[in-house]
Amino acid sequence: MPAFSASAPGKIILFGEHAVVYGRPAIAVPVTQVRAKAIVMAEPKSPAGQVRFIAPDISLEAALDSLPEDHPLAFTIRRAVSTLQLVHIPACSIRITSTIPIAGGMGSGAAVSVAVLRAFSASVGHPLTNEQISSLVYETERIYHGTPSGIDNTVITYAQPVYFVKGKSVEILSVKNSFTLVIADTGLKSPTALAVGDVRQAWQKDPQQFDRLFDSAGAIAEAGRESIESGQVEAIGSLMNKNHAVLQKMGVSCPELDVLVEAARTAGAFGAKLSGAGRGGSMIALVAPTASTYVADALRAAGAVGTIVTEVRQS
Ligand code: MEV
Repeated sequence: MPAFSASAPGKIILFGEHAVVYGRPAIAVPVTQVRAKAIVMAEPKSPAGQVRFIAPDISLEAALDSLPEDHPLAFTIRRAVSTLQLVHIPACSIRITSTIPIAGGMGSGAAVSVAVLRAFSASVGHPLTNEQISSLVYETERIYHGTPSGIDNTVITYAQPVYFVKGKSVEILSVKNSFTLVIADTGLKSPTALAVGDVRQAWQKDPQQFDRLFDSAGAIAEAGRESIESGQVEAIGSLMNKNHAVLQKMGVSCPELDVLVEAARTAGAFGAKLSGAGRGGSMIALVAPTASTYVADALRAAGAVGTIVTEVRQS
């Protein structure tokens, strides 16, 4: 078996995080500057059927059989084996590397799963379709955070801007005019499960108020879609500001995110918001292409531990 390699991008949520878990629409875009990569190599000297994971970023080197049932990597491969109805797995190693910040709101776990599934299924001669990959990664995501909407596995699998409603077929967005985003990492690790769980508790306590907040976020995502499809870039920025205010009311922002959002606006961004689960992780700022370096510098001066400039391209 030659080596089979595959990769998958990171992602950011442009509009509608959290509300999307409750059936409201959301918009996400891939971030190709950061990627997870998997390489599957034959290991003819190992016992038949042995699959070994090597993931230096998380200091993991282990055989599939030694990992617990609910370990995300083990779960992903076992589900792939049963979906593909494989009776014979050639002994192999799967080397995983990633430049996507872990627990940084950029879909690192989902991207690793997509890359592993693509490389592994190709190595056994049965490449999975995007639809199969997305739904297998959704199952793994449920281990990471209980009640995922499915937006992360979808945008990362299809690697295109998506308009997403839970339980409906994905819609690929057409982007009339390219726009530039600066992504800044607060450096605070924020496991999605915690923020999603807290929002659920708050919603259970006060369903009326939270349903109103989810409705507002959903309406912002709808308006965001119109602005993206009609090429009104500055309008996208002001909708991002509105979405951040709604997320603050949901209780998922934090001082570190608010400081960065404010710093981006002061430095001239058209708009800024937290992105993903919140409580840390990343924020995004929409900027004129010529302002990206200035805004990125301002974000680092305000405490960001890293910044990425990415372009959502016209399509
Ligand atoms: C995480 O990227 C987005 C959330 O809305 C969770 C989800 O949709 O599964 C916070």
